[in-house]
Amino acid sequence: MSLVDAVTSAFVERAGRRPDGVWRAPGRVNLIGEHTDYNDGFVLPVAIDRSVVVAAGRRDDDVLRCWSTGDRTAPVPRRLAELGPGSSSGWSAYVEGVAWALLQEGRPVPGADLVVHADLPAGAGLSSSAALEAAAALAFTELAAAGPAADPVSGGDVAAAPPNGRAASGDGAAAPPPDRVALALAGQRAETEVVGMPCGLMDQMVVLTGRAGHALFFDTRTLATEQVPFDPAAAGLTLLVIDTRVKHTLAGSPYAERRRACERAAAALGVAALRDASLDDLDAALSTGRLDDVTFRRARHVVTENARVLEVVALLRRGEVAAIGPALAGSHRSLRDDYEVSCPELDVAVETAVAAGAVAARMTGAGFGGSALALVPEGAADGVAPAVAEAFAAHGFGPPAVFPVAVSDGAARLA
Ligand code: GLA
Repeated sequence: MSLVDAVTSAFVERAGRRPDGVWRAPGRVNLIGEHTDYNDGFVLPVAIDRSVVVAAGRRDDDVLRCWSTGDRTAPVPRRLAELGPGSSSGWSAYVEGVAWALLQEGRPVPGADLVVHADLPAGAGLSSSAALEAAAALAFTELAAAGPAADPVSGGDVAAAPPNGRAASGDGAAAPPPDRVALALAGQRAETEVVGMPCGLMDQMVVLTGRAGHALFFDTRTLATEQVPFDPAAAGLTLLVIDTRVKHTLAGSPYAERRRACERAAAALGVAALRDASLDDLDAALSTGRLDDVTFRRARHVVTENARVLEVVALLRRGEVAAIGPALAGSHRSLRDDYEVSCPELDVAVETAVAAGAVAARMTGAGFGGSALALVPEGAADGVAPAVAEAFAAHGFGPPAVFPVAVSDGAARLA
C-alpha cells in the first residue's frame, strides 16, 4: 500500500471522515557540515526518499487531535490556545509545537485532526523530527488557506517579514522560497521551545527546500542556499544509509552541552560565532590558556568542518562526486576524536563500509548513535549490508539496517 493510501485509510478509521489533504516531508542525510549549523556555519544535506506523511482534516472548532499509526494510544485533544512550552510531550509535541510556533508568528492555524504515518525510522539520525514538523506546518498552512472560514485561531501579531537570504554564488544559487524559510523557522522554534532540543536550522531547511538530484548548500548565517548537483547514480554510485539502530535521544544533554562548548569558545575568542574563527585563532587561545583542551577540540572540529564543506561543494560543482571521500573521512575522524559524538557502532559501520568498497563514508546527523552514510560503487553496494552485519555481530552489537536512498524533493502536498 502506498504511503498516501495507508495514511488516508488510517485517517478515515480514526477520524471517521476523509482527510482534506495529505502532505509529505522527507528525511535527510547530511553529506557534510555536522554540528556547524548552530555556529553560523555551512552544511550540505540532501532530502531522501524516506518520509513522514500527514493526513489532515480541518475542524470547525479550535481543537487539535493527533494520531500516529505507530502508536496505538488515543490522542489527547488539545485546544490551540493552550499549546506552548511545557504543555506537550512525546511525538505529538512536534506537531503541537509547530501549531504554537505558527500562531506565535501571527499565522492562522485552524483546529484539525491529523494522522501521522512514516517509512522513515525515528531516532535514526535521519531527521524524522524535522520531517514531522515540516509536514504538519504545510498541513496547517494549507488547511488555514483553504478555509472554510470557520474562525481560525489567529496569533494576532502580523507575521514578521521572513529573513531573505542573499543567494550564494554558483549555478544553482537562488534565495530559498521565503515561505518555506518561515516554516523551517517555525519547526526549529517548536523543537527548541516546545520539545526542548536546541537544534540548528539545517534539518528543517533541507526537508522543506531540498531538490531531487541536488544537495542543499546552506549558509546558516545568511540563510543563502544553493542547489548543488548531486546525482550518485549518474556517477555509478549508490548512497547507502547504515542505521546502527542505536537510538539517539537528543532532547537530553549531550547535544546541548556541545552547543554550549561552542558558545564558550566563541566568547573566549571574542567572535560572534565559530564561523568567524581560524585555526590560528584557536592555537593562540589554547597557548594563552583562554581555551582548555576539550573546548579547543570542539572548536577545532567546527572550524575544520566548515572548510571541508566548502571543499566538497567545490568538488560537486565540478561533478567530481567520487572525489569527496577524503573530506568525508576527515569529517568522521573529527567528529569522533575532536567533537566526540560518534560511538563504536558508527565507527565500525564507517570502517566496514570503506573496507567493502565505499568511496566515502561517515556518520551523519547529530551522532550519539543513529546512522552513517556510505557512497558505494554500484557493483559493490550489495556487499556492504552483509559486511556490516557481520562486523556488528563480531563486535557483539545488535543488527543494523542498511538501505539505499535516493536524493529527493523537499516537502509537498501529495493528495
Ligand atoms: C541535529 C540537529 C541539526 C544539526 C545536526 C548536527 O540533526 O537538528 O540542527 O545540528 O544535529 O549537524
